[in-house]
Amino acid sequence: MFLRLSLLFFLTLADALQSTSTESYRRLSSTAVTRWQRGARAADDTPLRVHIAVAQSNISQAGSALLAISDPDSPYYGRHWTPSEVVRAFAPAAKDIASVMKWLANSGIPSKRVSRSHGADQLRFDSTVGELSRILNTTYYHYTDVNNQGPQVACEAYHLPPSVASLIDYVTPTLPHVSGRLPGQRRTRARVDTPYVRRTRDVTSSLAAVDCRKYTAPSCLREIYGIPAETPAPHPNNSFGVFQLAWVTWRPEDLDAFFKLFQPELVGRRPLVERIDGGYLQYDYNVTAFNLEADLDFEYAMALSGSQPIVNLQVGDKFRLGNINNMLAAFDKYYCGALDPSMDPMFPDPLPGGYNKSTDCGTVAPPNVISISYSYNENDFPPEYLRRQCNEFLKLGLMGVTVVVSSGDTGTKTSPIPGTCIDPASGSPNATDSDRFSPQWPAACPWVTAVGGTQLTTQTTNTSSPPPAAAPSTGVHETAFRVASGDSFLSSSGGFSNVFSTPAYQLGAVTKYKHRERHHLATLAGRFNGRGRGYPDVAALASTYLAVVDDKLTTVYGTSASTPVFASIISMINNERLHAGKRRVGFVNPTLYAHANVLKDVASGANEGCGASEAFRASAGWDAVTGLGSPDYERMRRLFMSLP
Ligand SMILES: *[C@@H]1O[C@H](CO)[C@@H](O)[C@H](O)[C@H]1NC(C)=O
Ligand SMILES: *[C@@H]1O[C@H](CO)[C@@H](O)[C@H](O)[C@H]1NC(C)=O
Ligand SMILES: *[C@@H]1O[C@H](CO)[C@@H](O)[C@H](O)[C@H]1NC(C)=O
Ligand SMILES: *[C@@H]1O[C@H](CO)[C@@H](O)[C@H](O)[C@H]1NC(C)=O
Ligand SMILES: *[C@@H]1O[C@H](CO)[C@@H](O)[C@H](O)[C@H]1NC(C)=O
Ligand SMILES: *[C@@H]1O[C@H](CO)[C@@H](O)[C@H](O)[C@H]1NC(C)=O
Ligand SMILES: *[C@@H]1O[C@H](CO)[C@@H](O)[C@H](O)[C@H]1NC(C)=O
Repeated sequence: MFLRLSLLFFLTLADALQSTSTESYRRLSSTAVTRWQRGARAADDTPLRVHIAVAQSNISQAGSALLAISDPDSPYYGRHWTPSEVVRAFAPAAKDIASVMKWLANSGIPSKRVSRSHGADQLRFDSTVGELSRILNTTYYHYTDVNNQGPQVACEAYHLPPSVASLIDYVTPTLPHVSGRLPGQRRTRARVDTPYVRRTRDVTSSLAAVDCRKYTAPSCLREIYGIPAETPAPHPNNSFGVFQLAWVTWRPEDLDAFFKLFQPELVGRRPLVERIDGGYLQYDYNVTAFNLEADLDFEYAMALSGSQPIVNLQVGDKFRLGNINNMLAAFDKYYCGALDPSMDPMFPDPLPGGYNKSTDCGTVAPPNVISISYSYNENDFPPEYLRRQCNEFLKLGLMGVTVVVSSGDTGTKTSPIPGTCIDPASGSPNATDSDRFSPQWPAACPWVTAVGGTQLTTQTTNTSSPPPAAAPSTGVHETAFRVASGDSFLSSSGGFSNVFSTPAYQLGAVTKYKHRERHHLATLAGRFNGRGRGYPDVAALASTYLAVVDDKLTTVYGTSASTPVFASIISMINNERLHAGKRRVGFVNPTLYAHANVLKDVASGANEGCGASEAFRASAGWDAVTGLGSPDYERMRRLFMSLP
């Protein structure tokens, strides 16, 4: 009697929506499947290294545990957990491990063949295609991916008996979801456009006096958000990290050219590089695709945070790149055991490189604030993979770490190119215009702070046109980020998760939004999950940033820029709290939703995508395009300083 049935090729969005508690079957997202070409059946004696992720205990209470320490009205506010408390609370129960071991033993895998590291929630053993297909009632094939990677032996779905189904998160190998690809392809697009590209040698110091109605520079952000230029010296326990993938590299020359223009006292200052999973930086290709994101992030994070040392969390090796899970496993050695080798490139692997479990697990202490300007497509991953990763963000929150991520720049779809909306019939993100909206990841995880984009009403609305010549000096305000760019539009990504339901801390705000916008939202009915986690949480300017990339002063657009700006503000507030003998702020969403007046509401504009030229609209209060609004530093500081 097997409970789980393969519905692999028939996945519909409704299945994904229903799967918020426990799945009734195991399948891969159809995106993963379509990326691979199925070849011959694998021979029975083909060796397989099997990983079984046993469900964590108490994980269903983790959300309320996080709220108990991050709700400003809770008596436990700020009582962060130690890493060992986190491990103890969520380690799989001994009886669950025993049940899974018993099932394996009954299936012909005695416990002496199974290894498990202490506290880890994963069991491993060496098997063969013949043995495993019998145990899981499935078939293994050879697969090659569209880029001719592989071949790889995998199955697309499998069955578990009811006695262990609820105790197992997943069994691998299945088909890899993210095959090695060049960096940049899946990154939140930090767009560089060229109307104002000038060689740095042409730039004079007069640029330090930037016209903030048209451009965004550090001085503009200070003025608009009230960010102080002088801050207390960095507290020894304060820390701030910025995530980057392998190959993406900041150039010292670019940082210095930028600092020379906007923050001369920082010339010569560099991020501290923390290499994770190889942490590959490269200087062979000085091109926008590799230098833009890192140059932009560090120029702004460093300029705003003053003398605070900034850590470059550089993740991934030259061959297999890296991903967010690789970073999370470097923070949490137990999560290392839960990494899915079919999705998180890992050694040993047919290719060189990959995550090295003997050197990369739990080796890095997470910084107090982590800024992530990259986004993936929620729909590319199976819900259990997303939940597992989202729980790691939750655990970081429990330990007092703030994770700030970009919402994305493509409105309600996941790429500027047409055809990245969700096809309701197949569940694939390959559909065109009138179809379902496709949420961004990890913004859709309720335990991160997602940052959307805004622009000033006087900034350009077309990245190929200069800003208006004579910008008015009065009535300038922030509106939702939306600019024409080439044949399409960039706009602040926002919407609702198809996997995670609305968390308690934002339920009131989301309900009001849905009521206020009910007539407009009725025109979008069926295209988004109204019961999902709404994102973004907050927003910040995303338009016409001046950045130096590959020796050129360029203008840059996107929530890739908004994110390090918001993260810098949190880091500065942490610094002030630490100086006052308080703890760092940790997960900030419950506090921000409970005191939305510390953000400046952005109530005009809309995002677009999937054929909706006006998809989610900004309006008074929280909305699914600019969240609660943009930061007011002084109000945020006062609020967080008033908390214990
Ligand atoms: C976690 O769950 C286990 C049972 O699996 C229970 O014994 C333990 O008390 C729980 N711990 C916490 C902190 O809730
Ligand atoms: C194995 O799975 C197939 C469907 O894929 C099902 O028809 C069959 O009954 C299952 N076998 C057992 C022993 O459960
Ligand atoms: C920094 O944190 C450590 C560990 O929590 C603590 O012992 C130490 O006193 C802190 N340092 C300062 C200067 O507060
Ligand atoms: C790229 O820039 C680096 C400095 O950031 C420089 O050392 C290197 O020579 C440049 N590489 C090429 C191929 O121009
Ligand atoms: C992984 O790390 C171990 C220990 O340093 C080392 O012996 C091994 O060669 C590494 N493997 C790879 C593929 O780099
Ligand atoms: C999208 O992919 C599915 C398979 O997952 C396929 O059936 C469908 O025809 C594709 N749609 C388009 C528009 O390419
Ligand atoms: C943006 O500007 C370019 C160049 O001026 C123009 O060709 C294009 O049509 C404009 N796009 C929109 C949507 O206005």
